[in-house]
Amino acid sequence: MSNIATIEINGKKYELPIVLGSENEIAIDISKFRDLSGAITIDPGFKNTGACYSDITFLDGEKGILRYRGYSIEELAEKADFLEVCYLLIFGELPTYSQLEKFHNDIREQSIIAEDMKKILDGFPQSAHPMGVLSSLTSALIAFNPSSVNVTSEEAIYKAIVKILGKFPVLVAWTHRKHQGLPLEYGDEDLGYVENIAKMMFKKPNKEYKVNPVVVNALDKLLILHADHEQNCSTSTVRIVGSSHAGLFASLSAGISALWGPLHGGANQAVIEMLEAIKEDGGDTKKYMAKAKDKEDPFRLMGFGHRVYKNFDPRAKIIKKAADEVLMSLGINDPVLEIAKGLEKEALEDPYFVERKLYPNVDFYSGIIYRSLGIPTNMFTVMFALGRLPGWIAQWREMRLRKEPIGRPRQIYTGHTLRPFVSVDKR
Ligand code: SDX
Repeated sequence: MSNIATIEINGKKYELPIVLGSENEIAIDISKFRDLSGAITIDPGFKNTGACYSDITFLDGEKGILRYRGYSIEELAEKADFLEVCYLLIFGELPTYSQLEKFHNDIREQSIIAEDMKKILDGFPQSAHPMGVLSSLTSALIAFNPSSVNVTSEEAIYKAIVKILGKFPVLVAWTHRKHQGLPLEYGDEDLGYVENIAKMMFKKPNKEYKVNPVVVNALDKLLILHADHEQNCSTSTVRIVGSSHAGLFASLSAGISALWGPLHGGANQAVIEMLEAIKEDGGDTKKYMAKAKDKEDPFRLMGFGHRVYKNFDPRAKIIKKAADEVLMSLGINDPVLEIAKGLEKEALEDPYFVERKLYPNVDFYSGIIYRSLGIPTNMFTVMFALGRLPGWIAQWREMRLRKEPIGRPRQIYTGHTLRPFVSVDKR
């Protein structure tokens, strides 16, 4: 295969290098194209445009493949735990036992939040959406941890990373408990990373907390499945904010806001709201399928479709299986799961969805498990953010250590050409 692409504009030919990824993905390097030709390329939504080279996550949308640092999502979900996956994504290798111990100890030492942060949390109405609270608290952390802002050395970046890995689960748990009107909880030195997340979120103020392995294992698996997904909307946000050399916490706060949107991470909340509406409507899935296909109707089948996956999202398969297992072991019969399965079956046989290669994505079944764990619907996207934290960190660290340039896309201007000012008395 030639390693040169040729573009011809007005009879003049321009040669551009072709680059190959380690999985033989092909790209045309247009980094010198405007200098050469005066032209730019344009691609709203970046459907055909790569923003960076990355060693972190590989996904093949046609084949439904997802790997973190070369390890398949299926193996990691089955055999690893979330803290191991955090280490793998951020530093590139699965940790030895001693590396994992040191990493966890460094994180434990940072798992305390400045007491004044509670005053900020108190300032929110109990009805505030948890994603807005979490984004604000993450940004507020900067004020209490100024040394985490101007980080350039690998050591300073490491310190900022263990700080946010220690504090973010506490912020997530406190956001949840504020919304529930419950007193705030801390973790225990002798519990595991995800055990502490469960304890801080679910401990009843009047009862000793007992670790429930079913809940912890389900949470651990869901967090692994959400941990990274290459250059999705929120990760691209974290990278571009970080490319201005804004600090890690400020970049993460921006990523949380991007994830909140119902077309992205907010879809897991929208899926349950949709399934509940169908249940209230007597389980009339055909009506909602018709709405999803009606171009005049803004309704979309939430949890279906994906920018990259034109096959099953491998995470959706794993979560669907886990949903059955978790509900069975918790002795829960959730009619919404049966509605979801019915909707999936119908959509996979419907030409509209088949022609557009619309399959269930990570958000389609995840809410059913979160709900079975007692997590309220508007906290689902916060759980997504908790899972995606190591991926955001890994991508931000890669961008900063590689000293990548500030992100600044071009545009094609389509507004007015030059025109003279008209004073108000003449308008
Ligand atoms: C996540 O990027 C990532 O990796 C994201 C993520 C991650 O881990 O970070 O995987 C997490 O965000 C998963 C996606 C969650 N969002 C939803 O479930 C919301 C519902 N899905 C859609 O809004 C949509 O599928 C997107 C936003 C996910 C993808 O949209 P695209 O790639 O811009 O595709 P498109 O809107 O151009 O759709 C192509 C066609 C259109 O029809 P036509 O104009 O060709 O006739 O498919 C239709 C769309 O109308 N379509 C849908 C649909 N999704 C696409 N029709 C009905 N229901 C849907 N869900």
